[in-house]
Amino acid sequence: MTDASMTATHSGGEVQGRDGVEDIGYGREFAPFYDRIFQHDEAAEITADGLARIHPDVAQGTLELGVGTGRIALPLARRIGPVDAVDSSVEMLAALEGNRDGEPVHALHGNFVHELPDRSYGMIFAVCQTMSMVGSRADQRRAMHQVAQALAPGGIFVVETGNPLQVHSLMGAQNPAVTTVPLEAQGGWLTTYSQVTESEPGVETWRCRQIWIERDGSFHTGVEQSLLTPVEVMDQLAAEAGLVPELLFGTWSGAPYGDEAPLYIRSYRRPPEAEPVTREGAAQ
Ligand SMILES: C[S@@+](CC[C@H](N)C(=O)[O-])C[C@H]1O[C@@H](n2cnc3c(N)ncnc32)[C@H](O)[C@@H]1O
Repeated sequence: MTDASMTATHSGGEVQGRDGVEDIGYGREFAPFYDRIFQHDEAAEITADGLARIHPDVAQGTLELGVGTGRIALPLARRIGPVDAVDSSVEMLAALEGNRDGEPVHALHGNFVHELPDRSYGMIFAVCQTMSMVGSRADQRRAMHQVAQALAPGGIFVVETGNPLQVHSLMGAQNPAVTTVPLEAQGGWLTTYSQVTESEPGVETWRCRQIWIERDGSFHTGVEQSLLTPVEVMDQLAAEAGLVPELLFGTWSGAPYGDEAPLYIRSYRRPPEAEPVTREGAAQ
């Protein structure tokens, strides 16, 4: 794990970067238009408000997994002060630097499945599908153990990710399926070619070809892959790492989670008296 400032100019096309950081390649495709779809807007401010509200102890520190272009870390840092932020994509970290306006976000280039900073945090969070972008249940389990190890006793892990029921509902009886939705606030259209396949026994992967079309007809495109992760499965992974489920919401305004919710927001606590989580646990 290195300071992003040391690696942000690297733009290799390989999965394993020159500096040894494994990256899925999402940022290489999406960094040029990510902020057109996921705007640094009122919704991001509401998310930052929610995270600041549930933080158990700001003095113990804060870490975001998959910071991307800083959509959430930047407004959160404006509220609570320093935020450490890891991402495997040098392209997304370069976009974060472009968006920064003096906020104390400490960007780190690394892969959270394999490594986290060698310190503890009062709150760690992964929002906007990041935990579902981890490519296998085994790697999600490793990531959960890394988190449990890096949480201070009494600290919380907050996950926001998509509700698999809504992916199936969006696709209806079609697989593959193509949908187009106008995004009014962004002033364009998002066309998605979706395909759900069984990637390991009992585990579904949602592969999307996203095409972002501007009003003038210009477009950007990229492929995104998510491991469909029901909240019950996330809970199981957390329990295996010694974390205890607490809050469950369907929106950052506090609406309850249900089958109709596009996403879930779940928090897990490391019990104050918990035994330290070992590297051996992370390797299982
Ligand atoms: C969907 S974006 C979310 C960005 C930001 N959190 C937001 O809410 O706008 C997911 C980010 O996670 C990063 N990412 C995915 N898997 C990762 C991993 N194993 N280690 C580090 N970063 C990862 C991607 O490069 C991407 O920037």
